[in-house]
Amino acid sequence: MNTAATNQTPLAPSTETPSAVKPLKPLKIGNVEIGFPIVQAALSGYSDWPMRVIAKRLGAPYTICEVMLDEFLVNLKERKRTSHFLHISDEEEPVGGQLMGAEPDQFAAGAVKLVQAGFHIIDINFGCPVKKVLGRCRGGFHLSQPAVALEIIQKTRDNVPSEIPVTVKMRRGIDDTEESRDQFFEILDGAFAIGVDAITVHGRTVKQRYVGPSKWEFLKEVKQHIGDNLLLGSGDLFTAADCLAMIDQTGVDGVTVARGAIGNPWIFNQARALAAGKPLPDPPTLHQQKEVLLEHYRLAEELYGPDRVGRLMRKFGIKYAILHPEHDAVRSAFVKVANMDQWKVALDQFYSADGPGCHPNGKMHKAQSSNQHCG
Ligand SMILES: Cc1cc2nc3c(=O)[nH]c(=O)nc-3n(C[C@H](O)[C@H](O)[C@H](O)COP(=O)(O)O)c2cc1C
Repeated sequence: MNTAATNQTPLAPSTETPSAVKPLKPLKIGNVEIGFPIVQAALSGYSDWPMRVIAKRLGAPYTICEVMLDEFLVNLKERKRTSHFLHISDEEEPVGGQLMGAEPDQFAAGAVKLVQAGFHIIDINFGCPVKKVLGRCRGGFHLSQPAVALEIIQKTRDNVPSEIPVTVKMRRGIDDTEESRDQFFEILDGAFAIGVDAITVHGRTVKQRYVGPSKWEFLKEVKQHIGDNLLLGSGDLFTAADCLAMIDQTGVDGVTVARGAIGNPWIFNQARALAAGKPLPDPPTLHQQKEVLLEHYRLAEELYGPDRVGRLMRKFGIKYAILHPEHDAVRSAFVKVANMDQWKVALDQFYSADGPGCHPNGKMHKAQSSNQHCG
């Protein structure tokens, strides 16, 4: 049970660049060198190969694939329609594979499939708050049953080769009760005792889903509690300054950028600049955005093929629109895209003339969040 003192001062994303920049400690998870400690989170429906490659090229040192079901992995056949889930390339190394499930033996078998597919780190999802997932005793449900959660971690660690790090993603509890808090610390301490290499904590409860702030002071408390063990923080990282502020205010060893990276992969290089004591770079110009939008589409077409790509890219276009001064009009244009020609028409209409882009503001990301997200 945790007895660390609670910091009662609410910590929160900063609106300013931290004035005195402390050098960031490079991140190493197990034997995997990550380096810069601001990485891209697992994002169901988003962090596929194209998104990860773009993020990597724009400064993300490590990215995590969207969560997969253990059952899906265990039964996976060499089918063209599903092969994209396991597609990774040398350029993205290191990349994490994440999975969720209910039953320890099947979970471990699914984890082995991720290793065979080439993922460099295996991440266990104990955070998903989606109703259907909880109803099937997966994801965040495990925060209410430490014994099963720890059995999953133990079996996964036992079956994944020792050179591959195993990590865990958790929310700060099922809810705000004392019981939930005790269960959180039982899993946290037990996981490190088993030998997991890092834990990511999203500072919201499962019950909270995405409503209300991520409790950064809880992350600070957890870091103080675990000492030298590795903690990554998650929640409310919408700007590069937020990422540095979380590290500064909570002492976490790294942060995972989630909603803040969708449509804004530039956040990683912006954070690198701030961490080096430089001013915040200007947001990408419209021409710089256009280049990335084209490349993202091209990578997605390579992965999914011309028939599926158009519809799949809509959700990304909508998020990229946040960086355009006419974001509502750009958003509406991307909503209708069905193929590369229409994507190019939208780009010609809104990105032909160069001009300054906008920095995103957190409210836009929050406004677009729903309860159907998986962590
Ligand atoms: C669209 C979406 C999909 C997500 N999918 C996953 C996922 O597959 N695995 C996971 O661990 N977390 C997932 N999450 C949770 C994020 O990784 C992150 O913990 C959460 O969004 C809090 O960070 P933020 O407030 O900075 O967005 C998802 C979140 C969103 C918004």
